[in-house]
Amino acid sequence: GCLDQKMKAHKRVYIGAATDPNTFNDTLVAQHLKTEFGCVTPENSMKWESTEPSRNTFTFSDSDKLVQFASSNKKLIRGHTLVWHSQLPQWVHDITDKAVLTEVIINHIKKVAGRYRGKVYAWDVVNEVLSEDGTLRPSVFSTVLGESFIDLAFRTAHAVDPHAKLYINDYNLDGPGPKIDAMIALIKRLQRRGVPVHGVGTQCHLILGQVGAVPAQLQRLGGLNVDVAITELDIRIPKPLTPELWRQQQEDFHTVFKGCLKVERCVGITAWGVSDKYSWVDTYFPTFDSPLLFDDYMNRKPAYDGAYAALSDF
Ligand code: G3I
Repeated sequence: GCLDQKMKAHKRVYIGAATDPNTFNDTLVAQHLKTEFGCVTPENSMKWESTEPSRNTFTFSDSDKLVQFASSNKKLIRGHTLVWHSQLPQWVHDITDKAVLTEVIINHIKKVAGRYRGKVYAWDVVNEVLSEDGTLRPSVFSTVLGESFIDLAFRTAHAVDPHAKLYINDYNLDGPGPKIDAMIALIKRLQRRGVPVHGVGTQCHLILGQVGAVPAQLQRLGGLNVDVAITELDIRIPKPLTPELWRQQQEDFHTVFKGCLKVERCVGITAWGVSDKYSWVDTYFPTFDSPLLFDDYMNRKPAYDGAYAALSDF
């Protein structure tokens, strides 16, 4: 069976991958998405700069294509992302008035989550709201509204699409330290305030050989009475690539997949792309390479075998 079927045999929800028209238009990528994965995350097309480049002017051309691709291939969708400080148009950064920003957030969520109501399995409602030291990340949202922007985003998303699972998503929750401590504390505060938070996403943009602490962090997140998902998994390799490094990557993918399976609330794992050919890592980390399950030529890598082996263990 494929990765997604293996995952479902563990009574989990999906193995997914990030994509968008620019990558699923590659027929080899589309083929892997169809056969190996049960869920897609739009890599860029649902972000604020893509969907609402100027105030109350919405563009859904790429996101509609992604949703169409998912529905015609019976894939779940993880919506990504409603409120994020990055890939955010300048007109939003420029807002200084509380009432205006509140109205803008509500309108954005109503229009974007509303367009795909009933079609999105889970939304990353807020993304990357914490700094490395565990404080609230400075952004237009936190500066103008304080922590309450998080409550506002979740309550609005829940009203718009009551069946979608609503996630708080962040990176560097892969090891112990102030950031994951703060994430756990934040989720508990949201729960005490009755905010409809249903899941925590740990992105898992990992570095080869540095994945050992991931399973224990998944355990901690899995104790919060919310679903847990690995939302953006990749494991980048320092150049130059060697067969030994690919074998280490196989082990690392095995470790991470096993870590999810050991946590009852870990519902899914999304790779941040299908093929190394289109990974964001190339541009953002020029000294690293080859972070995904399929190589530049769309062949399965040892990493795939590591993931598959973890899913084959019962
Ligand atoms: O759309 C323009 C295109 O018109 C232009 O010709 C081209 C030239 O550079 O740029 C295109 O935009 C790029 C966009 O991806 C779409 O391909 C941006 O430059 C590029 O910066 C952008 O990168 C994305 C990045 O988020 C930006 O924040 C990556 O593809 C995407 O994988 C990455 O994803 C994020 C998650 O959303 C959140 N967590 C971290 C993760 C990795 O950074």
